[in-house]
Amino acid sequence: MHLSAALAPLGDMRMCLQIALWPTLKAILRRPSLLLHPSLISREFMSHVWVPFGAGIDENTRDVKTSLISPNAFGVVLDVGAGYGHSAKYLDHNRVTKYVALEPNTNMHPGIRRIAGEAGFSEDDGTLLIVPYGAEDIALLTSALGGPHTVNTIISFLSLCGVPDPKATMRALTDEVLAPGGEVLFFEHVLSRRPDVAWWQRVWTPVWKYAFDGCCLDRPTDIWLEELGIWQSTDVWSKEDEPEEHMWWHRGGRLVKAA
Ligand SMILES: C[S@@+](CC[C@H](N)C(=O)[O-])C[C@H]1O[C@@H](n2cnc3c(N)ncnc32)[C@H](O)[C@@H]1O
Repeated sequence: MHLSAALAPLGDMRMCLQIALWPTLKAILRRPSLLLHPSLISREFMSHVWVPFGAGIDENTRDVKTSLISPNAFGVVLDVGAGYGHSAKYLDHNRVTKYVALEPNTNMHPGIRRIAGEAGFSEDDGTLLIVPYGAEDIALLTSALGGPHTVNTIISFLSLCGVPDPKATMRALTDEVLAPGGEVLFFEHVLSRRPDVAWWQRVWTPVWKYAFDGCCLDRPTDIWLEELGIWQSTDVWSKEDEPEEHMWWHRGGRLVKAA
């Protein structure tokens, strides 16, 4: 593996610090009690990092989103780890009735409101719901949604890397929240099939997850999702033209739950 690919996280971490260190320090000066809650500092940091990163990744993955999300998402759409709600821009109003943004980082909620609002989803007319929980908070989520099996489409775009116990969480989300015949549309960076890349991903993960609010580079999320075994159909693919040496090797797909 080329050293430049193996050391790629260093460059991103430097960029994150340049973007988010000062605003995070300012937030701590305003609210010194944050020092008692390292997870809140991490979220503060991530909310600054994701302003340019989220917008840049949205731009760079527009082709993925227009082919994966736009033609497939339908009914009530749950966006797991919505970030600033960029996926809302790709939803077709003729097919989607409601955009539910599940985002535990409340610093991002005003951004979701703005971006989803520009895409035509609003809390005033009931087409937008922002839920401040983690994906693992199934009971709270089900209650906010008004009952079990109310979601037709689950989107996970670069989010399962940071969810605790993603296998159990996706099992619970697909069993208890997703309606029969509903679908999961995902695009995630996953553990590489190449042993040398996977080795570096495991080396970086303990450090990387501190910079990116729990984001792990070494999860075979695509395999875990397929292994849930509840699917009527699966279509899982790699990103076109992505070099195999990529530390963030992506897999995406559409998984349809049996009706
Ligand atoms: C890398 S960002 C991706 C955001 C968005 N999907 C996008 O494409 O712009 C990951 C998001 O997952 C959120 N997140 C972190 N822990 C989570 C959890 N336990 N459940 C759901 N989302 C979580 C983070 O706050 C963050 O907004």
